[in-house]
Amino acid sequence: MESKSAGSPRDMLRPFVLGEYRQKFSVSFEYPVFFTRGVFGLSNPILRDVLAPEACGESRRVQVFVDAGLSDAWPGIREKIHAYFLQNRPALDLVTEPELVPGGERAKNSRAAAEHVMESLAERHLCRQSCVVAVGGGSMLDIVGLASSLVHRGLRLVRVPTTTLSQCDSGVGVKNGIDAYGMKNFAGTFAPPAAVVKDFEFLRTQDDRYFLGGLAEAFKVAMIRDREFFDFLVANAARLGAREQKPAEEAVRRAAVIHLQHIAGSGDPFEFGTARPLDFGHWSAHRLELMSRYELGHGQAVSIGIAMDTCYACEKGFIPVSEREAVLGALEACRLPIWHPLLSVRAAGGRREVLRGLEDFREHLGGRLTVTLPRPIGSRVEVHEMDAGTVDGAIDVLMVRAGGC
Ligand SMILES: NC(=O)c1ccc[n+]([C@@H]2O[C@H](COP(=O)([O-])OP(=O)(O)OC[C@H]3O[C@@H](n4cnc5c(N)ncnc54)[C@H](O)[C@@H]3O)[C@@H](O)[C@H]2O)c1
Ligand SMILES: [Zn+2]
Repeated sequence: MESKSAGSPRDMLRPFVLGEYRQKFSVSFEYPVFFTRGVFGLSNPILRDVLAPEACGESRRVQVFVDAGLSDAWPGIREKIHAYFLQNRPALDLVTEPELVPGGERAKNSRAAAEHVMESLAERHLCRQSCVVAVGGGSMLDIVGLASSLVHRGLRLVRVPTTTLSQCDSGVGVKNGIDAYGMKNFAGTFAPPAAVVKDFEFLRTQDDRYFLGGLAEAFKVAMIRDREFFDFLVANAARLGAREQKPAEEAVRRAAVIHLQHIAGSGDPFEFGTARPLDFGHWSAHRLELMSRYELGHGQAVSIGIAMDTCYACEKGFIPVSEREAVLGALEACRLPIWHPLLSVRAAGGRREVLRGLEDFREHLGGRLTVTLPRPIGSRVEVHEMDAGTVDGAIDVLMVRAGGC
């Protein structure tokens, strides 16, 4: 007969353990996030302040990378940045002319751009007391962020995000990465920035795809964390859709702060757990992006994902029909899509192709599937399964609304 007092798992280890020392330490991170206009204007001291070493009298070596797409939209920006650094000598020492890095998702599809950045940092002998400044959209920030986090095991990085999405979301966070082996963001690191400086002026020159797409991320955080912010987005949806600068700045500012509060307060900034609470609406969005071969923008895919999960939450009784309609109406007023024909695609066996997004989503973090849904709007619930029948029903609601049958 088996003994009832087999002992705790630790007792069972004891005969095998010849020695043990338990290592424990914590590191606290702190970085400023500024909102400004004219970051490279000669009279704007913010960037100099975040870069210059405090009262040590030495100059800070800095290398600047600029998103090539941003540079096309802002001719002369590299010269402007150069002039800013000249004006701030000797506190700042620009080690070379600001260098272009390709922007957009395609640049993240290979290692070439990240390797180029590392090579350039090596050529200029950037050390751990130097600083890298990256000026651009989320893709370019991910590339430069990854390269900087690898060189000498991590250089200081100051991000200057220039798109709605990167100002709302990715630019203030702690992650970076590139796509590899057919998987999005497969190769990346967690690396908090030294500082983030957001210049609202940059928002004006983005294409609609990016200006409006980034707003989907604002809906995402509002719907699961901040009812008041959600009401603001609904009330201002038509103005946001018309690209009015004032409500757009307010949306970016509030979304970024919620994002920052989440990182600081979630207890899991480096995502060791299985929950992805900031990825509401994303399980299907990532799949739709892939299915469309990235024809569908990330923000547009997120908007559809939010619409789907909102309908799902409604079918489950987490939010009333009136709120579902408020969400769908506001996304539409922002000129964001809530439907795509790819939602109708079925694999052999009749299962909707988009449902594969759930497996990808689970696989990315490992462990149990965890999907965040609004319950009610402004708060959230985590569910560990999404039943296919209800997803079908949610998609049907959107199809009917889109004029399908
Ligand atoms: N690291 C993270 O935590 C995180 C989070 C969310 C998203 N992301 C990533 O961010 C990427 C998407 O970023 P995005 O939406 O910022 O788009 P993007 O960086 O792909 O940029 C879109 C296009 O706009 C150009 N551009 C940049 N700023 C501009 C401006 N002010 N005016 C005109 N053109 C400009 C770029 O050159 C590019 O062609 C995705 O790869 C996504 O995976 C990362
Ligand atoms: Zn996103």
